[in-house]
Amino acid sequence: MTVPDALRATVSRIRRVVVLTGAGISAESGVPTFRGEQGLWKQFRPEELANVDAFLSNPSLVWEWYAYRRKLLSDAQPNAGHRALVQMERLVEDFVLVTQNVDGLHQVAGSTKVLEIHGNIRRNHCQHCRRPAQVDLLQSEGPPKCDYCGGLVRPSVVWFGEPLPMEAFGEGDRAARRCDLFIAVGTSGVVYPAASLPLTAKNAGAYFLEINPESTDLSRYADGALRASASDGLTEVVTAIASGRNSP
Ligand code: APR
Repeated sequence: MTVPDALRATVSRIRRVVVLTGAGISAESGVPTFRGEQGLWKQFRPEELANVDAFLSNPSLVWEWYAYRRKLLSDAQPNAGHRALVQMERLVEDFVLVTQNVDGLHQVAGSTKVLEIHGNIRRNHCQHCRRPAQVDLLQSEGPPKCDYCGGLVRPSVVWFGEPLPMEAFGEGDRAARRCDLFIAVGTSGVVYPAASLPLTAKNAGAYFLEINPESTDLSRYADGALRASASDGLTEVVTAIASGRNSP
């Protein structure tokens, strides 16, 4: 597993990098990915629970699923993949990290420029009045009521069918249009509009690198791939960028 030659040849000229992360980067921290068998909770697929209709028709069930996921996260620590992105941010002049993850592990690792386009599971707000709510994250028995309006409190994540935070996505989209290198790491690339970002970057002339042990829906568009874990693949790329900075 090495950085593709075409990328290595241009690495000293790379000034603008966008990285899109998905659940795979947190897999090595013990956080289950969404798709595949490990994504099932009880008999449910994430798509069945992560939507507003499911929450309104069975708030306790959806809340219990989030309490379970928050419990898993309470012990999770960033891994070498998260840390490699902190180094990349320091090395690259114009660096933007767009994450679909809601676990906050990039920030725990020390990344400062993170666009969370699917929200953050550690925050909550009222489904009715949208005000932020402070709650016991591990409370598993049903969602609390909003202190202001009595509405149901929900996790501040983007559910299927809901719009993305416009500002964060817009910033990621603009960064994709100007970058030299776009890296998609640990994502199956099936959820849009997140999955459109590498295509936007490629159409604007960027080199598109995929890091994933498996091929994905994005693989056919990639200029190069590292079939590796996020930690190994990102460490390789950071090493290549750092050596490009040191060469004459
Ligand atoms: N390193 C890198 N990639 C990995 C690793 C690893 N150690 N382990 C697994 N993967 C890859 C898998 O091969 C898969 O392609 O991570 C990907 C995980 O895919 P998904 O579970 O579909 O996660 P993601 O792409 O983040 O899902 C997108 O879907 O349910 C929604 O909102 C949720 O943000 C999520 C979105």
